[in-house]
Amino acid sequence: MAPISIKNINKDFPAGDEYIRVLHDISAEIQEGELTMLVGPSGCGKTTLISIISGIMSATDGHIMLGDYPLSEMSDTQNVLFRRKNIGFIFQQYNLLPALTASENAAMPLLAASVPEAEAVSRATKILEQIGMKGHTEKMPSQLSGGQQQRVAIARALVHNPKLIVCDEPTAALDAKSGQAVMQILREIASQKDRTVLIVTHDNRIFHFADRVLEMSDGKIIGSYSGEDFLKKESA
Ligand SMILES: Nc1ncnc2c1ncn2[C@@H]1O[C@H](COP(=O)(O)OP(=O)(O)OP(=O)(O)O)[C@@H](O)[C@H]1O
Ligand SMILES: [Mg+2]
Repeated sequence: MAPISIKNINKDFPAGDEYIRVLHDISAEIQEGELTMLVGPSGCGKTTLISIISGIMSATDGHIMLGDYPLSEMSDTQNVLFRRKNIGFIFQQYNLLPALTASENAAMPLLAASVPEAEAVSRATKILEQIGMKGHTEKMPSQLSGGQQQRVAIARALVHNPKLIVCDEPTAALDAKSGQAVMQILREIASQKDRTVLIVTHDNRIFHFADRVLEMSDGKIIGSYSGEDFLKKESA
């Protein structure tokens, strides 16, 4: 579906009687078959930008193409259907359903696509086990640690093989080993030619997984680097 092309994106949030502009004229291309990281200080607009790219929030103005799909020109209903099929999200809040087990939560995108329950849960369980959740797949979210809940959210984002995977700090609550395991999986997915991974992160332990790094500051993209050049710049 890629490349993702965003053009002249502005975003204003209401603040009392006025509006505050938090994204200023952002344009960028994000390539398929690549893992792109979006980095920058707290409050610079990273979550806002990926929410707009993934159609969860609308921009004040600007255009977004997800491959051939003109996200910014389509209706909310069309976008919901497109998103459900083509995008996997890992957000800072995991939004797990408290009455479902880890496997059932992770199976949700398949159930929404009418995959039979037994098959959906078995596929979800397999992914959970790959990311260190063996022995925890039948537990309820309240019986899981923060890092384990995060892994359920990660499995849920991957289970339906979406073309685009968007993650907000996917390794923030994970120890070094689990963080690397999650990144290995995302790295492998991103190497496939028709798939795209976009990750917001502060975590310098995972920068070396990036093909490309977009640097943001104050609502603008101020730099675009190859993964290698970004590492050199960071260690200089
Ligand atoms: N719903 C909202 N209403 C008003 N202002 C908002 C809203 N959401 C975000 N903002 C403001 O927009 C700016 C960008 O926020 P955003 O969450 O995108 O930052 P971020 O780069 O993801 O930060 P962090 O690294 O801390 O998660 C911030 O100044 C924030 O206060
Ligand atoms: Mg954020």
